[in-house]
Amino acid sequence: MLKIGILGLGEGRSTMSAALQSDKLELKMVCDRSLETCKHRAKEFDFHQYTTEYQDMLNDAEIDLIAIYTPDYLHAEHVKQALLAGKHVVCTKPFIDDLSQASELIQLSETTGKAVFIGQSSRFFEPAKRQRKDFEAGLIGELITIEAQYHADHRWFLEKPWALEQAFKWLYGGLSHPVDFIRWYLPDVEEVMGYGMISSNGKNAGLKNEDTMHFIFKAADGRIARVSGCYTGPTQPAYRDSGMSTILRGTEGASQADYHELRYAVTDKTSEEKIVVWGDSTLKHYFRFEGQSHHAGEYQNYLEYVADCLESGRTAYPDVKEGVGTVALLQAMDRSLKTGMPVKVNDILNEYGLSREALKA
Ligand SMILES: NC(=O)c1ccc[n+]([C@@H]2O[C@H](COP(=O)([O-])OP(=O)(O)OC[C@H]3O[C@@H](n4cnc5c(N)ncnc54)[C@H](O)[C@@H]3O)[C@@H](O)[C@H]2O)c1
Repeated sequence: MLKIGILGLGEGRSTMSAALQSDKLELKMVCDRSLETCKHRAKEFDFHQYTTEYQDMLNDAEIDLIAIYTPDYLHAEHVKQALLAGKHVVCTKPFIDDLSQASELIQLSETTGKAVFIGQSSRFFEPAKRQRKDFEAGLIGELITIEAQYHADHRWFLEKPWALEQAFKWLYGGLSHPVDFIRWYLPDVEEVMGYGMISSNGKNAGLKNEDTMHFIFKAADGRIARVSGCYTGPTQPAYRDSGMSTILRGTEGASQADYHELRYAVTDKTSEEKIVVWGDSTLKHYFRFEGQSHHAGEYQNYLEYVADCLESGRTAYPDVKEGVGTVALLQAMDRSLKTGMPVKVNDILNEYGLSREALKA
């Protein structure tokens, strides 16, 4: 059993549930700098091995892997400390929120021989898994283009103190999901352009960066994709629209995975339509607390995948290089918002001593 420690017990609550319910993981310790939060989680899960000091978890020789769920701007430092302490790492999305420590983290992962897996949870959700499986089985032929979106009424999120800081960007916090979907199918995005704005709801709440964005991407082989995100206003009901959706258009078919609705549709080579909607038992695995604003089932899926990979010596993807590639794309998108111009991903990577080719190796 993989022995795990969890850092950050807001969304890390879901990871506690995932680890405690999995027979591939043993939860050894959890950490949050807030003693109140630690006590709250201890009571909730009847799990009492907690600390407010990250160093305690790093010092515990029995812990194999640290799973990180602190605010975005702290991830780079927390990942670095875990690697230096000789731990494997799972870091929630967004992996990091700029590339200044990217080379260092890649190198540290290589020199320590410790894995860094990026918790792109949406890949590990039922409709997305099915869409990928069908794509790999060739049901829709070759990919022509991909459209992904993540729209959510996240006004509640603005109550978190770090949501209104200059460092917080929905571009990283929200769009990292659909952008990861695009890179899953179209890894080599070369150039991006887009527009964004802060909605009046966002302005009134004091948000510092864009909450409404639309982008288009161009891959090195000429294929194109688009992605959008809106986070501070109401959304359509689920039967009209999906909060998070990925559409693949192929040479011989098309597919659509809808997130919260647990819905998937594919029109395959035979032009036959198939629609799958998963039921209550699947819902229970994915959503264990109130509502659908947490991700325990996805985390259990990805933690078990990481455990299997570590046991068999395989790389768990998205790994550190893939994660850095996605952050580079997000940073290119950020620059396009600022300049109103198309931005090449390689120009961003080069500024940090990296390149698209180096990330493929
Ligand atoms: N689908 C997903 O994968 C998903 C969903 C939600 C959140 N997240 C990610 O999880 C991370 C946390 O988000 P959240 O909504 O839980 O935020 P949150 O503010 O609710 O929780 C963060 C927790 O980290 C603790 N913390 C902060 N600094 C710390 C430190 N130095 N040492 C120990 N603990 C510290 C805080 O006390 C807090 O309890 C973010 O990066 C977010 O993007 C991922």
